[in-house]
Amino acid sequence: MAETTLENQLTEARDHVLQTCDIKPQIGLVLGSGLGAFADSVAERTALPYGEIPHMPAPTVSGHAGKMCLGRSGDIPVACLQGRVHLYEGHPAERLVFGVRLLAHLGCSIVLLTNAAGGIDAAFKPGTLMLIDDHLNLSGTNPLNGPNHDFLGPRFPDMTRAYDEELCAMAKRAAADIGLDLAQGIYAALQGPSYETPAEIRMLRTLGANAVGMSTVPEVIALRHIGVRCGAISCITNMAAGLGHATLDHSEVEETAGATRDVFMKLLASWIQHIAA
Ligand code: HPA
Repeated sequence: MAETTLENQLTEARDHVLQTCDIKPQIGLVLGSGLGAFADSVAERTALPYGEIPHMPAPTVSGHAGKMCLGRSGDIPVACLQGRVHLYEGHPAERLVFGVRLLAHLGCSIVLLTNAAGGIDAAFKPGTLMLIDDHLNLSGTNPLNGPNHDFLGPRFPDMTRAYDEELCAMAKRAAADIGLDLAQGIYAALQGPSYETPAEIRMLRTLGANAVGMSTVPEVIALRHIGVRCGAISCITNMAAGLGHATLDHSEVEETAGATRDVFMKLLASWIQHIAA
């Protein structure tokens, strides 16, 4: 049997989702390590395990539920990816972005992404929320490698304003509304799964990074390829290697992400309201 094309796969996945629920999402969300609670809070919620969505890769990491949750935040129809897959799980770069391409195929013209990250900026502390205003792709790969999918976008997509300025301004207003001091900075994406060495963190600081993580950048590249507007926030779950006294481990990442749960959920809800207004 001939292998199905990406276009067919996305259509099959979209049709499955739209047959299962009546929500036609306008805004997509990608909820990272330990940050999935927002997806459980939406009204009129339908949850689809990734395993039930044709062609959707399923996460293997703790803190990533692996469900698409559709519903409403305020009045706005949204689709949340509760958990994502990462390069270090062994997926080819293109597979990492199937979920966000599906969000676009479902009709989302805006996607808000979140992640857990290590803080490099000395002013940060665990629990700081950082609006991402640009990134460094140090993952060693790109989800657009290989033949271009012309039906999605151009061979050489522009990345000048990858993080939409208007969405960033709205995130700041949303933070002010809830009395949150929102930091801002550059996110460096590495492949992982080992955390960085202190020497690598010094290198990243020299390169201008304020935070470091193992996700988000492939998704933003794929979304900009399609022309979807992106906004992104990191939850600083730990100070990066060598900056604190502790060694790093994933349970601390999940714990700190969990501790920011309420404020993170409020910020996302407020951000969506500003976008809708
Ligand atoms: N480094 C890379 N990824 C991360 C970190 C970190 O310190 N914390 C959470 N995700």
